[in-house]
Amino acid sequence: MVLDFSFYVPANIKFGRGKAALIGSEVAKYGKKVFIVTGKSTAKTGLLERVLGQLENEKVGYVVFDKVTQNPLTTTVEEGASLLRECGCDSILSMGGGSPLDAAKGISLLAKNGNTIDDYIFKRVQGDFQSYPIVAVPTTCGTGSESNGTAVLTNPKTQDKKGLAYSCLIAKSSIVDPELMETMPREVVGPVTFDALCHAMESYLSPQANPFTEPYSTDAMLYLAKYMVRANDDIHDHEAVDGVTLASTMVGAAFFVSGLIAPHGMEHPLSGLRNIKHGRGLAALTPTIYEHSISGSPQRYAFVSRVLGGKDENDCGKAIRQLLSRIDMEVYLSDEGFTEDDVPWLTENCWKLSKARLDLNPKPLGKDEVRQIYSEVM
Ligand SMILES: [Fe+2]
Repeated sequence: MVLDFSFYVPANIKFGRGKAALIGSEVAKYGKKVFIVTGKSTAKTGLLERVLGQLENEKVGYVVFDKVTQNPLTTTVEEGASLLRECGCDSILSMGGGSPLDAAKGISLLAKNGNTIDDYIFKRVQGDFQSYPIVAVPTTCGTGSESNGTAVLTNPKTQDKKGLAYSCLIAKSSIVDPELMETMPREVVGPVTFDALCHAMESYLSPQANPFTEPYSTDAMLYLAKYMVRANDDIHDHEAVDGVTLASTMVGAAFFVSGLIAPHGMEHPLSGLRNIKHGRGLAALTPTIYEHSISGSPQRYAFVSRVLGGKDENDCGKAIRQLLSRIDMEVYLSDEGFTEDDVPWLTENCWKLSKARLDLNPKPLGKDEVRQIYSEVM
């Protein structure tokens, strides 16, 4: 075997119940005035007020930017970057689900380096880019954004949803406290935990997986197989919620290097067009895409299948569907408001923005097959 690969050691991760008590002191290590990027949920759950109290104790000034929504927008990133510069903040605290964590990375990149956000998304600029120091605090266990330099943003004009990835955007410090996950409603737990499972499966199946990424991917898959249903049934089941949270954070570091494959490539047009939950789009697509892809890597699909209770590669799709039924996540695109009339736009958008993921799939998918899959899962 020829060993030749890259791996980014993830952020300084502090993991465990009660670690949210350290947010203020951690932020104080990086600056005097912090720009807090969040959505509305952290005010509702009381986390924001608690953290503001910690910052006041540490004598750290702050500006709260709480405009981030599900499937974060490029326009929100532009607004946040302007405000950060106006306020003279010297560091960033991102708190919430994957959306605020991703938006904070876009804000940091734009505010620190200039250009437009599309310049970074479409790689029109090159350089040694810099970031503000970021402290990331996830309150959902799906994106793994706290352990990588990836952000996925949607342009509201074109409905293009696409990621950017820079190692400078890896958080300086991530505080991962499974207690914070307990405020997730059940309709959020299913999509985010399935997103984490998809990251684990896709990063393992990716031809760019390497000896550093594989243990993160396979361990995350095993944790999720063991604990996902329990965490969905009872968000106060500590052992299960700790397990799925750990898995989500671990695999964030893996897929930053290995990349993600066709299910993520085909999902982004769905949540770009209809603002659906990313995990529900993945649930609609993943089993069928895998059934179209088995011949590209039968041994790896067999491993995934066995982890999820199947026998071999041929029942991989079935094993995933059975898992989805146990967490009330059997999804068809028509449930999410799509019709057959959307298939041409979805196919073209996927081809325009996600061709690299289709090519990276164990069996590369062509345009006709992409169109066929969208129709099959309608
Ligand atoms: Fe994802």
